[in-house]
Amino acid sequence: MNKLRIGDLTIETPIIQGGMGVAVSLAGLASAVANEGGIGVISAVGIGMTVPGYRKNFQEANKTALRNEIRKARLNSNGVIGVNIMMAVSDFEDLLRVALEEKIDVIFIGAGLPLRKPSAIATDLLETTSAKFIPKVSSARAARIIFRHWSEKYNRIPDAVVVEGPLAGGHLGFKKEKVNEPENTLSSIVNETVQMLSLFEQIYGTEIPVIAGGGIYSGKDMFEVMNRGAKGVKIGTRFVTTYECDVSDSFKQNYLSCSSSDITIIDSPVGLPGRVIKNDFVGQIQAGKQKPIKCPWKCLRTCDVKNAQFCIAEALFNAAQGKFTNGFSFAGTKAYLANEIITVKETFNQIINEYFHAQETSILRPYEYQ
Ligand SMILES: Cc1cc2nc3c(=O)[nH]c(=O)nc-3n(C[C@H](O)[C@H](O)[C@H](O)COP(=O)(O)O)c2cc1C
Repeated sequence: MNKLRIGDLTIETPIIQGGMGVAVSLAGLASAVANEGGIGVISAVGIGMTVPGYRKNFQEANKTALRNEIRKARLNSNGVIGVNIMMAVSDFEDLLRVALEEKIDVIFIGAGLPLRKPSAIATDLLETTSAKFIPKVSSARAARIIFRHWSEKYNRIPDAVVVEGPLAGGHLGFKKEKVNEPENTLSSIVNETVQMLSLFEQIYGTEIPVIAGGGIYSGKDMFEVMNRGAKGVKIGTRFVTTYECDVSDSFKQNYLSCSSSDITIIDSPVGLPGRVIKNDFVGQIQAGKQKPIKCPWKCLRTCDVKNAQFCIAEALFNAAQGKFTNGFSFAGTKAYLANEIITVKETFNQIINEYFHAQETSILRPYEYQ
């Protein structure tokens, strides 16, 4: 298995743990993944909800909590640590600044096309940072828009790109009706994106790694997508059922006890579909029931607070604490495959063994996957 190289950064094992909010992937999970040679990612979304009294000043609580989690992760690991910041959050720029001040290694940008170069936000810090910027897209077209825009406007391009297919947990970059369309399989989107980026690689004389995510659970899934040109994989769901994952035991048990038919899609107030595990709360939302909202701060730029059906941040944070009467777990299509809680080290070992087994038993040559 080749190491993943993102500019001057080397990742020993090309496994990136997906940032998972609210309060699912914090310093505990991120540092454990980094210690295994992958990239451990802290999710910044709603992170301030972990701070007592956050309602008084949500924005400040987010900054404090993010700073603390990055410092804790650094104390527990010398490996590569990233943060995941959604474009859709109102305090994107504040969170980016904290991450750069804390000298984060990688910044993953999700939920929205980052058409503004980060330097327009934090010019002073960007001049000295070696942090890598990696947007998440769901199509080669979206990747082209971002890369072209950055190239034309700023004469710089992102350091890598995450391509996420429709099987992922959490918010999806696809309309609900497009999720099952054959042209939207992860492997085809990865392949298109790899081909599209070759032009930018020539112009900039650098390699632009494509990282594939969404429905990658086994080492076999990983092997197959790497044969389509991905240089690394991003895995969220499989890391939830680890001891080190920062979420409550009930949240993990929810994964262990679900079946494939329990995994469904809802409309999120973010304006995107979200993949979740069914429960009564989800049933009520799907039936159109309005849930009371006590919004302390409009945390999502896109949230239409007056008309939103429920508060997504509250629902996710409740679930993270095991309070499922008013919450639900985000989960990928393969969440039902988990049957025990194991360590991050064991998870890495299993994925790597599965990868090599798939490689040994594969009768296909790499080009036959193209
Ligand atoms: C519980 C959970 C929470 C997530 N939260 C976020 C988030 O806050 N921001 C984000 O950009 N992606 C989020 N994701 C997506 C992951 O970062 C990752 O891209 C995804 O899990 C990969 O697909 P997989 O779940 O099939 O492995 C979440 C996923 C899960 C399962």
